[in-house]
Amino acid sequence: MEAQNNPENLLGGDQFDGVAPGMKPKMAEGGQRAFFSCWDIHAYYGESYIVQGVSFDVREGEIVALLGRNGAGKTSTLRAIARVDDPALHHGEIWLDHQPLHTMRSHQASQLGIGLVPEDRRIIQGLTVEENLKLAQIAPPVGWSIERIYDLFPRLGERRTQEGTTLSGGEQQMLSIGRTLARDVKLLLLDEPYEGLAPVIVQEIEKTLEQIKILGMTTIIVEQNAIAALHLADRAIILDMGQVVFDGKAQEVLDNADLRQQYLAI
Ligand SMILES: Nc1ncnc2c1ncn2[C@@H]1O[C@H](COP(=O)(O)OP(=O)(O)OP(=O)(O)O)[C@@H](O)[C@H]1O
Ligand SMILES: [Mg+2]
Repeated sequence: MEAQNNPENLLGGDQFDGVAPGMKPKMAEGGQRAFFSCWDIHAYYGESYIVQGVSFDVREGEIVALLGRNGAGKTSTLRAIARVDDPALHHGEIWLDHQPLHTMRSHQASQLGIGLVPEDRRIIQGLTVEENLKLAQIAPPVGWSIERIYDLFPRLGERRTQEGTTLSGGEQQMLSIGRTLARDVKLLLLDEPYEGLAPVIVQEIEKTLEQIKILGMTTIIVEQNAIAALHLADRAIILDMGQVVFDGKAQEVLDNADLRQQYLAI
């Protein structure tokens, strides 16, 4: 744990150059640091400057929809939060439950409770549904039991011996979410969970996410299907060209056709 708190041990100066003078992570109401907070994060793919000073907070148990047009920087922001190598975080702070994610590598962020469900689902070839879930639990911290995941997604239970990559798109999405819940997740990051799925399957996954919401799982959801995400979410953050252009209640975006037209083209 001590090593995680010491940026010297983890990041070269070229990868992270700290916080600008006078900048501090935002404080939630009552003077407490928010459960999750990113503060003035800037991230690059090589020379390409993509995440351009993004700041927002997420309260414990809240669902935040991170929206914006294609190429706005949503996936890049999630990846920067999950501390994957690309895009490289050059500046800013990211805090989860009082721990500095900005000093960590992705495996440490995962151990701390970041659960990224990537857009491409990444089901492991040659493994059954159950083996995919068990693999997620090979190292601590272990989250939900396999049976609890099957309770949430009965289709996965029915297909527990089927090879994961032969599942339908919707079932693979369920497995990808289930595999993340098999770890002890404090912040769930969902990148386009409804992508490429038939409306009936979207509804099924929506119902599951509603259940996860009732359980109080803190979540950031990125979704092209903005209306569906806004119905699920408490708050919305809209990105445009790598910057936050709106941060407010999800209902405000649903009620504001001009805002939706300007930044979401819907
Ligand atoms: N590996 C990469 N190398 C260079 N540029 C990249 C890379 N990945 C993404 N980008 C660029 O970063 C910008 C933001 O991409 P990002 O994937 O974060 O957008 P997004 O908001 O998730 O879009 P979409 O809705 O299409 O998924 C885009 O201009 C994209 O071309
Ligand atoms: Mg994306």
